[in-house]
Amino acid sequence: MTLLELIEKKKLGKELTREELAFLARAAADHSAPDYQLAALLMAIRLNGMTDRETADLTLAMRDSGDIADLSAIPGVKVDKHSTGGVGDTATLVLAPLAAACGVTVAKMSGRGLGHTGGTLDKLESIPGMRVGLTEAEFVRQVQEIGVAVVGQTGRLAPADKTLYALRDVTSTVDSLPLIVSSILSKKLAAGTDAIVLDVKAGSGAIMHTLEDSLALAEALVRVGALAHKPVIALVTGMDQPLGTHVGNALEVKEAIDVLAGRAEGDLLTVSLRLGGYMMLLAGLVDRPEDGEARMRKALASGAGLRKLKEMIAAQGGDTRVCDDVSLLPQAPVIRTVSCRQAGFVRSMDTTALGLAAQAMGAGRLSLEDQLDYAVGFVLPVRIGDRVTPDTPFCELHARTEADADRAEATIRSAVRIGGAPCEPARNFYAVVTTEGTRRFEEKR
Ligand code: URA
Ligand code: CA
Repeated sequence: MTLLELIEKKKLGKELTREELAFLARAAADHSAPDYQLAALLMAIRLNGMTDRETADLTLAMRDSGDIADLSAIPGVKVDKHSTGGVGDTATLVLAPLAAACGVTVAKMSGRGLGHTGGTLDKLESIPGMRVGLTEAEFVRQVQEIGVAVVGQTGRLAPADKTLYALRDVTSTVDSLPLIVSSILSKKLAAGTDAIVLDVKAGSGAIMHTLEDSLALAEALVRVGALAHKPVIALVTGMDQPLGTHVGNALEVKEAIDVLAGRAEGDLLTVSLRLGGYMMLLAGLVDRPEDGEARMRKALASGAGLRKLKEMIAAQGGDTRVCDDVSLLPQAPVIRTVSCRQAGFVRSMDTTALGLAAQAMGAGRLSLEDQLDYAVGFVLPVRIGDRVTPDTPFCELHARTEADADRAEATIRSAVRIGGAPCEPARNFYAVVTTEGTRRFEEKR
């Protein structure tokens, strides 16, 4: 078998066999095929698509291209949650401790920031001393002991994805449904959990550009998850504005702590509770996600969620005092508050541009070797639909230099459109997809 034969077949729109897809995954994992042939095949897949059967076979072959974490020593149903990527989306740091406080076994492997989106590992590392590079044995022990761990990959998981993702990034083949599905699910299946809640974003900060595409991605993830015999539920949630009001690593940790301490509410909490409710459903702890949400609200009110976050930080070597005093998190030297300067209604946001503004300040990497500046970013208290006056606080910039703050302010001002006509708040929830089908949410918020 040669990669050239596979390219020829896919170019003509034919189906690839399981053996051929396994050959592709191996070639990507061990670099035994030249990048130009892998890239040509990726483009043929992008243009001609794949069936669910092909996508599932590719997913399993990519899963099997490296290590598979063995979490069988942890009793109970291990549930993971994964987002397709957002801005100001620190739901993991809110719901992992809350779900664990309610009895869910949360064994989660997270990622780093990518492009305009933030990554949970980077956020956690803004906590002084915090370790995310646990061995598999340490990971298993921590989950056994306290019911929650959020770490980086414990082994060489799905190396085929690493090669293919890097090539997709530079060949305009990221936006392929079967390639996204196999990329996400191969890593999640290799991470060894029993069930997965997926948060598929829709809106101006999402990887997919239309709601219909986000729904199609959610449905494909659930169908292929079923073919891989893994319970998967996907929610389609709004990313027309940052989920929380804070964007930047330490700032997002601060917001998660504020939420868990009961000092802050809003869309970040609302979406975290909904996702957590489905985690509790998959864990078999409740019959209805609403019941899971209600229990998590109790854990929030009693402080059990914040205590669980503290336990997790302590177990991973971090300074737990940040939970009682958020000013111990890294602080930027320049903090500037600016007002709206105009009257009207917040009509829309270019959320990708907002994520890129934080990245340019130093909160995200422009190249792989970049060192992150954990302290920088911004707080954007205004939400779509808000009525504002010239004096309404618009944004609090946390920057390394005055010049960085100037640049970020200009970008953020042009990314947030304020107009004369009133408009509706942005939607948090669009749909939930299970093996039973797609149910659109009625409520807007
Ligand atoms: N996230 C991934 O891990 N892979 C993709 O292809 C897209 C988003
Ligand atoms: Ca993420």
